Amino acid sequence: ALQALCLPKLEPKQMSANSFQPRASTFKVAVLGAAGGIGQPLALLIKMSPLVSSLHLYDIANVKGVATDLSHCNTPSQVLDFTGPSEFSNCLKGIDVVVIPAGVPRKPGMTRDDLFNINANIVKTLVEAVADHCPEAFIHIISNPVNSTVPIAAEVLKQKGVYNPKKLFGVTTLDVVRANTFVAQKKNLKLIDVDVPVIGGHAGITILPLLSKTRPSVVFTDEEVQELTVRIQNAGTEVVDAKAGAGSATLSMAYAAARFVESSLRALDGDDDVYECSFVQSELTDLPFFSSRVKLGKKGVEAFISSDLDGLTEFEAKALDALKPELKASIDKGVSFAQKQG
Ligand code: NAD
Ligand code: LMR
Repeated sequence: ALQALCLPKLEPKQMSANSFQPRASTFKVAVLGAAGGIGQPLALLIKMSPLVSSLHLYDIANVKGVATDLSHCNTPSQVLDFTGPSEFSNCLKGIDVVVIPAGVPRKPGMTRDDLFNINANIVKTLVEAVADHCPEAFIHIISNPVNSTVPIAAEVLKQKGVYNPKKLFGVTTLDVVRANTFVAQKKNLKLIDVDVPVIGGHAGITILPLLSKTRPSVVFTDEEVQELTVRIQNAGTEVVDAKAGAGSATLSMAYAAARFVESSLRALDGDDDVYECSFVQSELTDLPFFSSRVKLGKKGVEAFISSDLDGLTEFEAKALDALKPELKASIDKGVSFAQKQG
């Protein structure tokens, strides 16, 4: 199942040492926004995980049908549906990982920041509920603009006195999934082997694939670097345009989010070899939040893989400098929204 999700390969040294055996069906996962375009296939993929005992689905509409449908799959987890703020407590109590894909998606011509006015309030409300009912959970934020919604979530958790920066994650796994796919296609590599770290944030030029750090090592021409970088940065828009008004990436996003959930559950389960890119509170740069590869453990972020930022190519170093003002503005916008509301 892990191979099917193309989880990142372990370093060769770690691979031979890793004899970790997962326990069965122990964890409780909640999806908030579970009846949506991402929520439904994500719930299905989480339902397939052998590590999950309970799957709680929350939405403001249509969630009963989704949960009833899913509950007929003969995999271990129990599926329950919840709707409306009066059910937050039952939905969230005892949850280990809460995933938030609630919110509106883009249409052609929009930026992710154009979603701020609606999604900021949705994320704020849901994270307040998480703070009240499962403050110890890993929190995965999918709702856009991630560069602002994660800082909003952090402020809300601070206001509630329960902020643990090691357990708040902006889900940027889709950028890595895309980078891995596009590089493997371009260089004719076996997909399962390719792992490209993607750093920065999750919008336009703030998405920075570190192609020079691709594993296994790959040589790219300058033209290939330019072309692949732009394609990875615009891949969300590629889907938005192809869907022509019917929304943004849902299936590939569900796949990516399921991979991040599975990685989180493996880390919670005691696997000592779990690495993912995520947009988290960080001291790797002068920005308060930054996406990079992190090591996940039982308590959340255990270490930052700072070596990915060593020895950048000139192209990558310039792109890193160029993304910082936009990313900082998006972070500041989220923080000041939450502080004004709070
Ligand atoms: P969608 O409209 O299909 O689904 C959103 C769901 O959220 C709906 O079922 C809706 O009822 C629900 N919802 C709205 N307000 C809610 C609330 N207050 N509480 C609970 N549920 C609520 O949208 P989608 O395609 O699933 O996308 C969802 C979000 O994910 C968008 O903001 C989109 O931009 C974002 N997204 C992020 C990434 C990423 O890489 N992080 C990738 C794709 C999409
Ligand atoms: C993506 O990268 O696909 C998402 O952020 C959705 C979007 O609006 O592009």
